Amino acid sequence: MKILMVCLGNICRSPLAHGIMEYMAREQGLDLEIDSAGTGDWHVGEGPDRRSTRTAREHGIDITNQVCRLFRVSDFDYYDHIFVMDNNNLRDVLSLARNEDDRIKVKLLLRDKIVPDPYFDDAQFEPVFHMIEKGCREIIEELV
Ligand code: 4NP
Repeated sequence: MKILMVCLGNICRSPLAHGIMEYMAREQGLDLEIDSAGTGDWHVGEGPDRRSTRTAREHGIDITNQVCRLFRVSDFDYYDHIFVMDNNNLRDVLSLARNEDDRIKVKLLLRDKIVPDPYFDDAQFEPVFHMIEKGCREIIEELV
């Protein structure tokens, strides 16, 4: 199964979701292919935000090898599920959907709640990590 994690900048939240999901898949021996992308292009080619890298490392997860990229329409073809962090991401990704097959792949990671953008608040990285971790655990329980 192939899963794409999407946020705005692809340097704070979706790299954490990408790293956490990969870590859980490896831990549980699950055949999952994970990637992440952003709807905005400001940081394309960069690694994750240092605050995300540090928070992940504090939980035993290395995300330093990730490289920021932009969400592209062909992601609808390649991925089985596309999980977004908030309602802006949802709107931006859905605006690129070509049909219902594309649209049904896109869901909020936390279903009925958003993962807030921690970019302007250092103190949010730790709670955001735990929100994403919970979301990833529930996705694995449901899908795998
Ligand atoms: P992310 O956070 O969407 O969780 O990666 C952000 C990162 C960068 C910016 C906004 C949000 N930015 O405006 O550069």
